[in-house]
Amino acid sequence: MPPTDRFAPPPSLLTGKRIVLGVTGGIAAYKAADHASYLAQQGVDLRVVMTAAATRFVGPMTFEAITRQPVYRDVFDGWAGEEAGHVTLAASADAVIVAPATANTIARMAQGMVDDMLTATLLATQAPIIVAPAMEHHMWHHPATRANIELLRSRGVTIVEPESGHLASGANGDGRLTSRDRIVAAVREQLARGGPLAGRKVVVSAGGTHEAIDPVRFIGNRSSGQMGVALADAAFDAGADVVSVVGPTVTVPPMVGRVERCESAREMSALVQEETGDADVLIMAAAVADFRPESAVASKIKKGPGDDAPIVRLTRNPDILATVKRDGLFLVGFAAETDDLVANSQAKLQAKALDMLVANDAVATIGSANSQATLLFANGDVIQLPLLAKAELARVIVHQLIPALPEAERKDA
Ligand code: C5P
Repeated sequence: MPPTDRFAPPPSLLTGKRIVLGVTGGIAAYKAADHASYLAQQGVDLRVVMTAAATRFVGPMTFEAITRQPVYRDVFDGWAGEEAGHVTLAASADAVIVAPATANTIARMAQGMVDDMLTATLLATQAPIIVAPAMEHHMWHHPATRANIELLRSRGVTIVEPESGHLASGANGDGRLTSRDRIVAAVREQLARGGPLAGRKVVVSAGGTHEAIDPVRFIGNRSSGQMGVALADAAFDAGADVVSVVGPTVTVPPMVGRVERCESAREMSALVQEETGDADVLIMAAAVADFRPESAVASKIKKGPGDDAPIVRLTRNPDILATVKRDGLFLVGFAAETDDLVANSQAKLQAKALDMLVANDAVATIGSANSQATLLFANGDVIQLPLLAKAELARVIVHQLIPALPEAERKDA
């Protein structure tokens, strides 16, 4: 794969997917416009279906402007040309989201009613259904709603639970529509099923570590963890069971998979050792501190008048990659180099006995949204990549490691 302008990283999981967004009649319907806009920006082929009550809260034109597609409402919509109303929409969907889902629509779904385009589509589709309820606290906790939710769950519908907080009534309580990120994560989980990493556990480390000097001070680095988070996303979207071990510098942890937080290199090491016990792949994207203060002082170091500045003696941290148990574990390391990138990286690949190493220019990469990387493999293959967004680079790395996994571990899609 030579560096060329025509190099195209694999598309994201959402790109080109046909998703039907059902919007029902609660005040949170206005938030669905933001969800629709986000999905459209991700390249989703989005079709919006509104209930009659939803159109009282938000004009269909809002969604038509966002999707550049007609908004379906009536069960008799969409019979023009090749389209066969709800049947075509239901059959062509990769996923159907209902957000916000009112107690009324949840009840209609539970009963299998077909009195508008949305319920007809929901009954006719074979695609995964993701429901994000939003309603008043007492409606959410009413035994009727509880029973309907459990019934939908038992039929395989994914319920993205509402949150606690400010409700339209002015009261605080349960029933607030959950965040867009959580809804999108639930959709991705459904779309990623059966992907090339299905049944595989991938552990990804991300971010820098903090090495305590005293209870309030630490030695740290500038790593934002963006690369590790992008890798967790890419592995998740390939169907993997992902555990992210994230350092304290990561302000936006992955929205998908399981996230384990840690502070220091030693804490990260313990978590990585534990999580890789039954893992197939370890991707060490974290900028682990190489050194830590020999001993962290128990109370804050004072600067009294006339006191000398303290001397902080450093000691080496464990090298996690070099010490992790590796039976059947595919190891991916990162190298941030400032010169002789390929030669230094090849030496590192061998010294740490890695299966794959991602080498990038230290100065250009840290803290940037882009990265220009070279991939090196244990068999000697070298792939030089063009400048890519970190999310694109993450997809390239994940798709390159899939065929490099040992035969027995690879699950062909
Ligand atoms: O040797 P160097 O620090 O350049 O290697 C970088 C790679 O090793 C990265 O993948 C990083 O996550 C990992 N590493 C580690 N434990 C350390 C330091 C770095 O696993 N203590």
